[in-house]
Amino acid sequence: MKVIIGTDIQQAKAFLEQGNVVGIPTETVYGLAGNALDIEAVTKIFEVKNRPTFDPLIVHTNSIERLAEFVQFMPEKALLLAQKFMPGPLTMLLPKHPSIPDLVTSGLDTVAVRIPNHPLTLELLAILDFPLAAPSANPFGYISPTSTQHVAKQLGEKIPYILDGGECQIGLESTIVGFENDEVIVYRKGGLAIEEIEKIVGKVQVNEHSSSNPKAPGMLKSHYSPKKDLLIFKGEKFGNNTDKIGYLAFQKHHSEITKENQLILSESGDYKEAAKNLFAYMRQLDNMDIDKIYVELLPEKDLGRAINDRLKRAAVKL
Ligand code: TXA
Ligand code: MG
Repeated sequence: MKVIIGTDIQQAKAFLEQGNVVGIPTETVYGLAGNALDIEAVTKIFEVKNRPTFDPLIVHTNSIERLAEFVQFMPEKALLLAQKFMPGPLTMLLPKHPSIPDLVTSGLDTVAVRIPNHPLTLELLAILDFPLAAPSANPFGYISPTSTQHVAKQLGEKIPYILDGGECQIGLESTIVGFENDEVIVYRKGGLAIEEIEKIVGKVQVNEHSSSNPKAPGMLKSHYSPKKDLLIFKGEKFGNNTDKIGYLAFQKHHSEITKENQLILSESGDYKEAAKNLFAYMRQLDNMDIDKIYVELLPEKDLGRAINDRLKRAAVKL
């Protein structure tokens, strides 16, 4: 592995200014960042991730003032949400300014914008004179990374530098919202709970089937998947032969399955703790000597909704 892992924002800046892509920490998941205004750097992002170019990227910057330069206008509700939740785990789809290359938005007339809440990345963004396009730093279709180790293991041969910001504090990708007339529409459930958004702008619409919606071409059905078969637990009885079964529980072990094969998202039932552990635990189970992984769904509220969304997308379709 030739990648350098460090905390030197000047070094990260130098690589980015040369058109290279760099791993960056955010509060949600690690990103694979490149100069959003440089077509060659953006092309590299798609190549390194093995991602189809019809799946658009999020543009990251460090202030609402700079963000406003990349969009045509901000509806009132967008401004309210920005003031409340940026920096934070929220991405907004807004009418795209011509300065953003079409490659970034896959030809759509909206651009996804976000201000990540991580001190090191905010510092880096502040010393750059361009915004960063950054998808999650995982090979296309696999689980998102929440530590430098996750990034290095899968992309370490392909990128020169990972900025080390420790473990991601939220652990789920940002919540993506768009605006239609006066309505707020959630296109991806994520690290900001819908309940929190509704406190600011009232009732929102949730687009449950964004995978088939042209507004969000990248939200494909099969996503966030481990290599092993992952199945949603529906109260099955397992009998005696459970040595090769892994189990991802919310609060309590499953009594029929070997304890060594089980991981618990949060014994106290804390949604934030469960979200933070989710992707790392999915990876851990994927690397165990087991044949398949059963997962429990959480109650459909708070971050449980986003966690369930990821689990269902990761599950094999029977
Ligand atoms: O938390 C996050 O959002 C992380 C960190 C690194 O910021 N980024 C992230 O990026 O999750 P990515 O590329 O893995 O997921 C972005 C999603 C994709 O499903 C993409 O299709 C959608 O956002 N998207 C981006 N631009 C869009 C647009 N203009 N319209 C609709 N969907 C868009
Ligand atoms: Mg992703």
